[in-house]
Amino acid sequence: MQFDHVPVMLNEVIAALRPQKGDIIVDCTLGGAGHSIHIGRMIGPDGMLIGIDRDPAALDSAAERISEAECRLELVRGNFADLADIVADLERRDGRPLTPNGFLFDFGVSSPQLDVAERGFTYREDAPLDMRMDPDSPLTAAGIVNSADVGELTTIIRDYGEERWASRIARFIVERRRSEPIITTGQLVSAILAAVPAAARRDGPHPARRTFQALRIAVNDELGAVRKGIEAAIELSAPGGRIVALSYHSLEDRIVKEAFRTGMAPCTCDPAAPACVCGKRPSLMRTSLKPVTPSDDEIRINPRSRSAKLRAAVKVLGDMGDE
Ligand SMILES: C[S@@+](CC[C@H](N)C(=O)[O-])C[C@H]1O[C@@H](n2cnc3c(N)ncnc32)[C@H](O)[C@@H]1O
Repeated sequence: MQFDHVPVMLNEVIAALRPQKGDIIVDCTLGGAGHSIHIGRMIGPDGMLIGIDRDPAALDSAAERISEAECRLELVRGNFADLADIVADLERRDGRPLTPNGFLFDFGVSSPQLDVAERGFTYREDAPLDMRMDPDSPLTAAGIVNSADVGELTTIIRDYGEERWASRIARFIVERRRSEPIITTGQLVSAILAAVPAAARRDGPHPARRTFQALRIAVNDELGAVRKGIEAAIELSAPGGRIVALSYHSLEDRIVKEAFRTGMAPCTCDPAAPACVCGKRPSLMRTSLKPVTPSDDEIRINPRSRSAKLRAAVKVLGDMGDE
């Protein structure tokens, strides 16, 4: 399979990550290696690029493309939620400590995952209701849709999809599956179309878009992984190292923002207390207050960049300050 994915905000990512010759950089979401090809060239033959993806199809295609990067390459099939273990395994194999100078997270799914109908991510074609990034993980979207009760489905669709018709959609799903299990994207789309009132279907995005996004997030435990991955990156980074995250969903962005805020101001003392007694010192400094967003030109050329928000932070040891 061709794994073509146009890298989002490439120049902004490189400016935030600042890869230098000889650096160790971890691309936690390798995908089509769209960012990593450039990073690999910048860190050069003395540098090391650790590329992680939970999707073997992404890794296969990235391996081919990135071989031209000319840096040392370690491609790992895994979940960035297990970042600490992944780095520890590489250290054991290398027989020396590996302290990365930068981490890149480009969350969500890639274009090829969305475009290949059989993966079940898209509501545009009829296919098995799968949605797993890791094809060996046990939970599929069909698994959730056919086993969760109305309350659980409502919570998933409302919280992860921000869908105003969540409880109606959940009720229609449960009603439909009484006659036969919902095992295809087409069956799910049909239940959603029946649930969403005609007036609400007239404008805006496809009525199934939010429910599909919600199920994808639940199937892959995407938000749990974001939290663990960002926290591990802060912990593992070398002083001066950079953590860069591209989010596409308000819940992802909120987790990144909170983790960075805690790293910058971890003190848990009463603000009225005369001095800090908790002893927690900042481990991060921010690079900018507001997230960076794509230019109008980029959104025109690559509509999938539309909702992207880039946040970056720098690991420090000692006192916090702004860059
Ligand atoms: C948006 S794409 C990355 C695209 C890449 N930056 C590029 O420019 O080619 C996200 C990739 O991250 C992978 N991914 C998502 N969540 C992951 C996780 N928790 N652990 C490892 N890989 C993950 C997906 O399988 C997908 O290939």
